[in-house]
This record gives sequence, structure tokens and C-alpha cells, in this order.
Amino acid sequence: MTSCRICGGPVQEILDLGRQPSANKFLLPSEVEQEFLFRLAIGACADCTMVQLLEDVPQELRYHSAYRYLASGSASHRKHFEQDARRFLETELTGPDAFIVEIGCNDGVMLETIAQAGVRHLGVEPASAVAEIARGKGIDVVTTFFDADTAADIRAAHGPAQVVFGANTICHISHQESLFRGLDTLLGPDGVFVFEEPYLETIFGALAFDQIYDEHVFYFSARSVQAMAARFGFELVDVEEVPLHGGEIRYTIARPGRRRPTEAVHQLLAREQEIGLAEPETYARFGMTVAQVRSDLLTLLHEIRDSGRTVVGYGAPAKAATVTNYCGIGPDLVPFTCDSTPAKQNLLLPGTHLPVLPPEEFHKAAPDFALLFAWNHAEEIMAKERAFRERGGKWIRYVPQVRIS
Ligand code: TMP
Ligand code: ZN
Repeated sequence: MTSCRICGGPVQEILDLGRQPSANKFLLPSEVEQEFLFRLAIGACADCTMVQLLEDVPQELRYHSAYRYLASGSASHRKHFEQDARRFLETELTGPDAFIVEIGCNDGVMLETIAQAGVRHLGVEPASAVAEIARGKGIDVVTTFFDADTAADIRAAHGPAQVVFGANTICHISHQESLFRGLDTLLGPDGVFVFEEPYLETIFGALAFDQIYDEHVFYFSARSVQAMAARFGFELVDVEEVPLHGGEIRYTIARPGRRRPTEAVHQLLAREQEIGLAEPETYARFGMTVAQVRSDLLTLLHEIRDSGRTVVGYGAPAKAATVTNYCGIGPDLVPFTCDSTPAKQNLLLPGTHLPVLPPEEFHKAAPDFALLFAWNHAEEIMAKERAFRERGGKWIRYVPQVRIS
């Protein structure tokens, strides 16, 4: 049995999604032969309730110069992170020496606004190509992983931070103990650690099983984050819902006793208890329902193919790797997908090797159906592609269940 990365307790398996690639490792055709696969499965700690991968992929294989994900790839994300930055500027960062560090700043979608305001900041980003994009926006970035040593270097060079921020990054870090030691070094006495990550309840409740992939080492809940913070000498003081990636929580952590935990923390903890988020029955139900979605989706795709109609994918998020590899959806069922990110275009989706083409190819193909892999951007994409529906095209979604609209 695996032991918990946070507390060492026993981790019991919840769901096995089979052999899978690193979800953002888009491939050139020449790279297909050497593709790296691992067993994608999650389990829950019987002691601290933290849900986590059973096996993980070394971080150097996940974040490297060819890492393709751009956090500013959608209008909704750009708007959200600009708002995050403005809030920090109005609250925690008003002092003359204000300093904010972002772990995994990606292409600078949040720090851009901070840099424009002339406030001291530092992005820590191991993926060099995306870090370079951030630098091009006038943002200070170091190309490295965040851990206790990096934090000590930053503290020595820049002094204490009022805010350490991370979005869709903290659950990617397997060395949480080192991360929290780093926070202890880096944060000022009243500093806060704020992070926004996919929420376990969304994954279970809304069946967003495609949020499970190699980069997401942890699947946080208020309860497991509270336990983790306490174990490493901090306190969970606030939680807030964030409407990104299908439903996330923004956690605020402070040094113990420095800030009073808000009512929202108590409410979310009570709600998780009420719905039995950490109960074995919840885990078992999730596993069974996900298997049903796989079966329904495959039935539909086979029916479409057998009746001579056409379907192509829409979007090539990391989530697409999970669903296509778990269900076994290859180019025989879905000949290609399209994505607006130039760095992903003309490469192959990891594992199942669906070609990723520019959106113009979707327009040219004029398929009968579009399988919406980027379902969390449904509104934005359907508005952009209104013409597809107007000429009779139908969208297929599979979260929380398979449906056509
Ligand atoms: P994300 O959900 O992880 O942000 O990934 C969404 C992917 O979908 C990303 O690769 C960009 C792509 N996308 C499009 O291709 N067209 C669009 O209109 C939007 C909003 C996203
Ligand atoms: Zn544990």
C-alpha cells in the first residue's frame, strides 16, 4: 500500500484510469515510439483524507522547455487573474515594500497586472518557454522549481513576501513539506499563502474525472488542506469558490493565530462532512459512475461512426489526454481535435495520438458532431462557434454525463 505524501498514513485506491502519458506532453510523430507511460490512479489517505496519485511522474518530466500549457489561453482566465491581481494590490500589497511571489507563474497572466502597477514581484516557473513569455511582458521570473531552498534564496535576495500565490500549481507539487518550509522562510509574519486549485467535490460531484492526470498530484478539499496546513505549521483561514476549470477553491493560509478563520471555512468544512466527501461510499460511487460515462461515450462514438456521420474534437486541454486514454478514443473514432494554442498545433495528443490542428481545420471539416474536450470553456467556445450549431452541428459533452446539444 502507498503511504500518504502528507502524513504517511495508508492510502486506499479509489480509481484506476489505466496506463497514461504525461497529459501536456504533446508529441511530434517522431517521438511516438519513446512515449513515457505510467499508471494513472488515485487514492485517499485514511488518516488525513488527502486524495492523491498513487504513482507520480518526476517533476522534470512534467515541466520542461517544451511544456505547452498557457494560462492566458482563454478570455475568462485572463479576466479572472487580472481580478486576482487587483485584489492583492488593494489589500495585501498596499505597503511601500510590498512583495509578491507566484509559484508557477506560467505566462504571467496574473503577475502582468502587478508588474504594470510597479509592485515588487517574482515569478517562479520551471517551464522555460512559458517563463520566457512572462519575461516578455516585463515580469521578473526565475526558471526553477519552488521548494525550501528556492524560498531561502528568494528571501535572502528580496526580503519577506506579503503574499505567496499559486494557481493550478500547488496541487502539482509532490514535495509539500519542503514547500511549506519554504513558506515559513519566505512569508512575513502576517503574510498569506493563497492558492486556487481544482476542488475534490467538483471532481466527485460533477464527475470531472478528466481533472485527474499526472500534473495533479493532489485533489484538495477544505478538510485535507486544513490538515496539511496544520501539519506543516500553518492555518487555513479562508476559502472561496472560483469558477475556473469547472469549479475550484481559493484557499488562504496564514501563520497560526494571525488571522481569524472566516465563516466560509466553517461552512465548507461542514458541507464536506454533510455530503460525506471523505467517505468510502462516495469514492466507490465515483468510480462506478466514471466507468458508466466511459461506456456511454464509447457507445455514442461507435454509433456515430457506424452510421457514417462525422465527429472531431474541440480543444486539446490536458484533460483530453485523460478521457481519450481512459476510454481508448483514438483517431479511428475521432480523427483529430483542434486547439487555438499555436504551440499545440500540428502535434499529437499524448497517448492516443489524435492530431491537434488549428481551429480552421474544424471549420473546413464541418463535422456532424464536435466532442468538447475543453468543456470548461463551453460558453466561450459555443459563442465563438455559433455557426457550427446554426448549420446543424451538435456538441457532445461527457461531464457530468454524456449528452448532445
Ligand atoms: P484549459 O481548460 O486547461 O485552460 O485548456 C483549454 C484548452 O482549450 C487550451 O488548450 C486552449 C483551448 N481553447 C480553444 O482551443 N479555443 C477556445 O476558444 C478556448 C476558450 C480554449
Ligand atoms: Zn495523509
